Amino acid sequence: MALPALGLDPWSLLGLFLFHLLLLLLPMPTTTTGEGGQGPVPRVRYYAGDGRRALSLFHQKNLQDFDTLLLSGDGDTLYVGAREAILALNIQDPGVPKLKNMISWPASDKKKSECAFKKSNETQCFNFIRVLVSFNATHLYACGTFAFSPACTFIELQNSSLLPILEDKVVEGKGQSPFDPAHKHTAVLVDGMLYSGTMNNFLGSEPILIRTLGSPPVLKTDNYLRWLQSDASFVAAIPSTQVVYFFFEETASEFEFFDKLRTSRVARVCKNDRGGEKLLQKKWTTFLKAQLLCSQRDQLPFNLIRHAVLLPDSTDPHVYAVFTSQWQIGGTRSSAVCAFSLKDIKRVFEGNYKALNKETSRWTSHEVPDDISPRPGSCSVSPSSDKALTFMKDHFLMDEQVVGTPLLVKSGVEYTRLAVEAVRGLDGNSHVVMYLGTTTGFLHKAVVRGDSRAHLVEEIQLFPDPEPVRNLQLAPTQGALFAGFSGGVLRIPRANCSVYGSCVDCVLAQDPHCAWDPESGTCRLLPTSSPKSWRQDLERGNPQWACASGHIARSLRPQSRPQIIKEVLAVPNSILELPCPRLSARASYRWSHGAAPVPKASSMVYNGSLLLLLRDGAGGLYQCWATENGFSYPVVSYWVDNQDQPLAPDPALAGIPRERVEAPLTRIGGGAAMAPQRSYWPHFLTVTVLLALVLSGALITLLASPLGALRARGKVQGCETKTPGEKAPLSREQHLQLPKERRTSANDVDADNNHLGTEVA
Ligand SMILES: *[C@@H]1O[C@H](CO)[C@@H](O)[C@H](O)[C@H]1NC(C)=O
Ligand SMILES: *[C@@H]1O[C@H](CO)[C@@H](O)[C@H](O)[C@H]1NC(C)=O
Ligand SMILES: *[C@@H]1O[C@H](CO)[C@@H](O)[C@H](O)[C@H]1NC(C)=O
Ligand SMILES: *[C@@H]1O[C@H](CO)[C@@H](O)[C@H](O)[C@H]1NC(C)=O
Repeated sequence: MALPALGLDPWSLLGLFLFHLLLLLLPMPTTTTGEGGQGPVPRVRYYAGDGRRALSLFHQKNLQDFDTLLLSGDGDTLYVGAREAILALNIQDPGVPKLKNMISWPASDKKKSECAFKKSNETQCFNFIRVLVSFNATHLYACGTFAFSPACTFIELQNSSLLPILEDKVVEGKGQSPFDPAHKHTAVLVDGMLYSGTMNNFLGSEPILIRTLGSPPVLKTDNYLRWLQSDASFVAAIPSTQVVYFFFEETASEFEFFDKLRTSRVARVCKNDRGGEKLLQKKWTTFLKAQLLCSQRDQLPFNLIRHAVLLPDSTDPHVYAVFTSQWQIGGTRSSAVCAFSLKDIKRVFEGNYKALNKETSRWTSHEVPDDISPRPGSCSVSPSSDKALTFMKDHFLMDEQVVGTPLLVKSGVEYTRLAVEAVRGLDGNSHVVMYLGTTTGFLHKAVVRGDSRAHLVEEIQLFPDPEPVRNLQLAPTQGALFAGFSGGVLRIPRANCSVYGSCVDCVLAQDPHCAWDPESGTCRLLPTSSPKSWRQDLERGNPQWACASGHIARSLRPQSRPQIIKEVLAVPNSILELPCPRLSARASYRWSHGAAPVPKASSMVYNGSLLLLLRDGAGGLYQCWATENGFSYPVVSYWVDNQDQPLAPDPALAGIPRERVEAPLTRIGGGAAMAPQRSYWPHFLTVTVLLALVLSGALITLLASPLGALRARGKVQGCETKTPGEKAPLSREQHLQLPKERRTSANDVDADNNHLGTEVA
């Protein structure tokens, strides 16, 4: 940096000194873009309580662990399984779900005392609801851990309200619900039969995949034949036309590793399986499993599956699943989302088998024997021969892996659940939108592009304290997503398009739910039949053509002319702070001065804002430019003018509306020093005091004549805090982080319902 030349007036010298000292002492802000590590960055982040993403919280005194969610057939009622209770919520109206009714289903005192005797930790000796399915038009079927003694029951419905559970209607639920609430489980009802996968014993060492209800026999996996490893952990069950698929993870026995290697699997059983007659009695005769592979090139695989859902599609249905890795890199876990085509899964189950060679203890590939027909394990209606069943006993692992397409890989987060929907965009094409819940209470909204890569439209912090999202349920007719967690159920509108204030922002967001309506000049939720004039560009996110309208000629840079100019009037040698709102974390930002870059010696970009020492000739147009998707546009434009010698107006900017704003960080000499409340203020104060002491001495010797003036005008004066209102219009970013005390805590409001954030009808 250039040393100030002698001969400058003392205020100018002091200004430069102060400015350079300020630059040296500023703490370097940590860049937020680098924080998330590898993977896409959410374009916009909302912290809990942010009014732009209003969430409605349902909670109930003395109730916790809202783990299980079930949407009624008409989509108007959400049934919720909580600890020792089941609730029916009316979700028809926007806003907080209304309690229709609630029934309690506590574990019996006998079971609770038995549990307390066996478990030292009594916090788990309750009935945690694990299964909640719609059985028929009049009944739900529910199962719970029942103080480590699983139990199930039918629950009668009356106008979608729940009727109380009769004690004599509660039956044993072993195999349907886990014993331990910490154990994973899955269940799905198909044709009146419940297919469930969970742990079948108290210790959690005996996994089971079982079919119950409906016509007998009850079919199970064979424990002795080790179809499942003892640590198998089920996360999803998905019915298809002829089969039911189960998704789980377990220790891989087929790889010889030093370490315990875990792997993700898909297993399938045929719906028409009736069990064997002589062999495999009351056991599955069609149980097959295959390895699921979700990995990115040259990387360790994401080998632990956490959840999976099916996105039905008439031509090519896919299963979407979230994975994490057994290995942590740099102390953080990573997650991946992979899509698996049902066609691929089906093909793998029609290929070769792997079997353990008992002599060599190695797994080898086996072709399908030609002398067994129908093919062993196929969903054929004709009864299987003894030979086929004998074959099935040892040939339950497929040779080939089901390889998924990685849509999203992100380090630093661990996804727990996902919900997926197909959204029709303005172009008539269907776009896959994924909602991903994390272990720390965040929700990511991800959109899959045509190249099978997902970008994150937004990140929403659901609760102020980090805790896992337990469950997610989309309610398409309500345009909302429901999230269950320890403290209640949250309604999250699928989108709030009005946060995108301009066509450029609306198009760059690439949210299939939102499009720009040029008529009203707003970004709006896409209705089912959207007018042709609306604007969206989901594939490229390019506002250049999407936002150029007929009467404004399509120019190369339709946005280079600012919409509004903020006018800053400053005294010479003052330090200005020109903020630049960060609308998108995906954009890169730079500043320009007229057509040139900003002057290096007297300016600095700090935390997005331009700090500028206003010296002679430094006035004029300052613009903050954002570049996103290869498209550059000015986010904010300032006209900085010298109070003492106004600049000649720039004819190129004629006709653009202007708005006067205040932007001084401090003024040196003449008038009070001003400073906004910032974290670097203490440093700045130190500098000021030090300077006042040191420089006053130095200046006396350097410049004798202005001494009198310095004395007369006093030292650099103390601070004057700006009112927040003065700065508000400058920065939208400031709204992002709400002060802690404004966040609503679920615990300190004891009304039955409350809003998290401000609710706007
Ligand atoms: C950077 O700017 C943001 C938003 O204006 C603010 O919340 C944050 O505290 C600033 N950081 C520093 C180190 O000044
Ligand atoms: C949507 O965003 C607008 C503008 O930021 C805000 O005023 C409104 O309250 C938000 N609505 C919801 C439902 O979040
Ligand atoms: C009981 O278990 C829960 C969850 O498993 C745990 O958070 C809690 O700290 C345990 N309490 C005691 C007293 O061990
Ligand atoms: C629904 O199932 C329950 C329990 O099996 C049965 O009592 C009831 O009659 C069934 N209702 C209908 C409409 O089939």
